[in-house]
Amino acid sequence: MLSSHPPVIALKDIQFSWKAGTPVLDIQELIIRQGEKVFIRGPSGSGKTTLLGLLGGVLTPERGQVAVLGADLNNLSPSKRDHFRAEHIGFIFQMFNLIPYLSVIENVTLPLGFADARKYNIIQTGVEEKQEAIRLLNHLGLTDPELIKRSVTELSIGQQQRVAAARALIGKPDIIIADEPTSALDTDTREAFIKLLFEECEAAGSTLVFVSHDPTLEPLFDRSIPLHTINRMSQHWLAESSNEQETA
Ligand SMILES: Nc1ncnc2c1ncn2[C@@H]1O[C@H](COP(=O)(O)OP(=O)(O)OP(=O)(O)O)[C@@H](O)[C@H]1O
Ligand SMILES: [Mg+2]
Repeated sequence: MLSSHPPVIALKDIQFSWKAGTPVLDIQELIIRQGEKVFIRGPSGSGKTTLLGLLGGVLTPERGQVAVLGADLNNLSPSKRDHFRAEHIGFIFQMFNLIPYLSVIENVTLPLGFADARKYNIIQTGVEEKQEAIRLLNHLGLTDPELIKRSVTELSIGQQQRVAAARALIGKPDIIIADEPTSALDTDTREAFIKLLFEECEAAGSTLVFVSHDPTLEPLFDRSIPLHTINRMSQHWLAESSNEQETA
């Protein structure tokens, strides 16, 4: 049972504001357990990317605790936090953030330069980093060797998304964080891609946190959390907007 698995992410009583005095997120508790595939849903601007920034230690809350794999991210120095993230978390960014002057393979293997444990995970399987990058790209649907040789700037959005996913998955990090990476794809392609992502996460034992505004993806996941149910700021916002509607 997943409910008996240890938490890999535990957020306690956190608050975060981009602008002083107007918090975007105020979350009492969020626990994600090892091996879970969790979907967090919320409309545009509701704070999904901000939440992922907190989970990955890219952003620091003004209050509360973010524990990842038992480490309190607030207690780590910025450089230790960067290293911790590289080692344990594969990020698929909303805009992919591929490096334009690196090849497809170099983009995929890039995190290994900052993450000894992920490098070691590959060495243990007896394959070269490049081979593992190609295996992941092939499994995610980039099978054409000509395509893999191209510059990432010459790939379609769907192809870039696969490169970004392979980069997050390489070396089996403990956690995969995916920020709405499928929004540019049609429904069939989207589901097929998510299933391949699941297969890789399961094979690696990685926990998956996936955010999106798209409710049709919800049934694919072990658990779905509408962001407004955990974010006290959006409850406040929802209550205000429904009051306005009632009085209008
Ligand atoms: N770098 C920033 N500086 C100031 N405000 C920001 C910044 N990034 C986000 N915000 C604000 O924080 C709120 C939440 O933004 P966030 O990007 O987390 O939403 P989101 O749910 O990811 O939206 P989308 O679905 O459009 O990606 C928004 O009101 C946004 O304007
Ligand atoms: Mg976002």
